[in-house]
Amino acid sequence: MQELLGTGIKQIIDEYPEVGTILQDYKIGCVPCNVGTCLLKDIVDIHNLPPELEQEMMTRIAKAVYPEREVSIPLRESTQAPAAGELKYSPPMKRLVDEHVLIKRLVALIPSLIETMDLETESGRQVLLDAVDFIRSYADKYHHAKEEDILFKYFDENLDILKVIREDHETARAHVRALVEAVEKREPESAAEHLSGYRELLTEHIKKEDEILYPWMDRELTDGQIGQIFSQFHALELTFGDAPAEYGQLITKLEEAHR
Ligand SMILES: [Fe+2]
Ligand SMILES: [Fe+2]
Repeated sequence: MQELLGTGIKQIIDEYPEVGTILQDYKIGCVPCNVGTCLLKDIVDIHNLPPELEQEMMTRIAKAVYPEREVSIPLRESTQAPAAGELKYSPPMKRLVDEHVLIKRLVALIPSLIETMDLETESGRQVLLDAVDFIRSYADKYHHAKEEDILFKYFDENLDILKVIREDHETARAHVRALVEAVEKREPESAAEHLSGYRELLTEHIKKEDEILYPWMDRELTDGQIGQIFSQFHALELTFGDAPAEYGQLITKLEEAHR
């Protein structure tokens, strides 16, 4: 079993596709991940399932890989796994989760932005450019900068989970660039396609961060590091002045217009 824990998850799934299905049963999405050099033990560690569920999952994986062997998986001792539905965050992680709430409010407006899109008038184009301004200034410069320039610096940049998250940020930026181009060229179909792409991507991305990445980072960081991160977040927030609150008002205004 030890050798299996030290094997890359993609290699295991290639040889034993049933393992991918088993992981999906525990809401672990390794199959669609396109980075995929995580070892099985990283997957177990990052997802921090409650001990009974982890034992059950590992028993099923062992049976799929070694059908001829009797493998017994011990119950891991842990008091760290949160009860289902209850996630506790350190203060800096809580800050990021709270910022996601505002980003999710913009994401929730996207279907209505698509439905009412009017690229032939200046005011119609401005609605989308306001959304772009929010995404670039708040979601990217403010929020993603906290993640990429501060928080992620405390971890090995080659970790798969961070590569996936950074790739998501890049894909989001590409959608926004293409959206601006579509607005300038007055191409509603392309604008709708990239708005939808951004919506799908960010919905999954935020879920990954809230439910997997941040809780795992909280378990890895020392109290001293969490304090450092929080004070760096605070210093960055000061440089933005009232802008974050103003972006909150922009979202409220958009919501009122799209009720
Ligand atoms: Fe992110
Ligand atoms: Fe985030």
